[in-house]
Amino acid sequence: MKKLLLVLMVILLVFSVTGCFKKKAEENLIGVAMPTQSLQRWNQDGANMKAKLEEKGYKVDLQYANNDVNTQIQQLENMITKKCKVLVIASIDGSALTEVLRKAAENGIKVIAYDRLIMNSEHVDYYATFDNFKVGEIQGKYIEEKLGLKENAGPFNIELFAGSPDDNNAYFFHGGAMSVLQPYIDAGKLVVPSKQTDFTTIAIHSWDSADAQARMDNLITAHYAGGRKLDAVLSPNDSLAIGIITSLRNAGYGTPDKPFPIITGQDCDKANVIAMIKGEQSMSIFKDTRTLAAKVVEMVEAIMKGEEAPVNDTKTYHNGVKHVPSYLCEPVYADVNNYKELLIDSGYYTEADLQL
Ligand code: BGC
Repeated sequence: MKKLLLVLMVILLVFSVTGCFKKKAEENLIGVAMPTQSLQRWNQDGANMKAKLEEKGYKVDLQYANNDVNTQIQQLENMITKKCKVLVIASIDGSALTEVLRKAAENGIKVIAYDRLIMNSEHVDYYATFDNFKVGEIQGKYIEEKLGLKENAGPFNIELFAGSPDDNNAYFFHGGAMSVLQPYIDAGKLVVPSKQTDFTTIAIHSWDSADAQARMDNLITAHYAGGRKLDAVLSPNDSLAIGIITSLRNAGYGTPDKPFPIITGQDCDKANVIAMIKGEQSMSIFKDTRTLAAKVVEMVEAIMKGEEAPVNDTKTYHNGVKHVPSYLCEPVYADVNNYKELLIDSGYYTEADLQL
């Protein structure tokens, strides 16, 4: 009898303890929704966020949605059902989350837009990103400097690419770059031989490398076949740059007679840093994902304590409904001259990561 009682007590204890753990986990659960694993940066973003949140004692539900909007919505619904306390979301289509965010708000869940602004919802509490206009501006200035646009008469030939139209960042990158380049186009110092300059024409949906490659193929065939020199290509990020480089390489660029044009990029993906070392890509914006993750963890902590999260900009990012209080981190550029200091000495990559 005594034994039976003891067994019962142990069973009860086990149940109450595991029940307790479950409750604790729910109290501490943070949902992190990332767009895709197909691009290096989002893997780093997700891994950094998870590690940093876990260090602080949170449980993390980290999900990737394979660039599929409905998958991301389902993942967010699951996070709401699991009673996550905060959702950190790098959206795929910034305008597709209005309904699911309404549900989150009804359940008292706070939302941080990660890197990409979530549009058309009043239920976006904070936005943490890099200064996206500045990203484009730095790319534009790099082209300005390397072509010597201030001093040289030109004209120089350039082709323009833009990012995914469902990503609010794409417009900021483009706006930033064109704030530098447009005056030179207007003055005739920079010429776009294809005449393709409007955003819709030059945008690459889902930031797809193969689509960027196909567009570059078409541009080369239609406008550069007769030996016209291509001096620069404005590429807003690294996944596009990879496609553009592949296209140019296939068309015989990369020789003394036909050197690669200046090609910009963003993210410092390993493959692109290697391309920089090889002289195929000129620069890439470095957005240290560790900095962004650390800032978002600070935001989560403030929210969990019922405090205001740190922001440094309340005027730039209007999502169609309101200005979303934002924290903008500083982007910088890496090129073949400074990548060692920026990427290796800082511990972002090892030498081995960048083997040719
Ligand atoms: C990010 C870039 C990234 C692009 C494609 C943008 O929203 O800011 O860093 O290259 O998405 O994933």
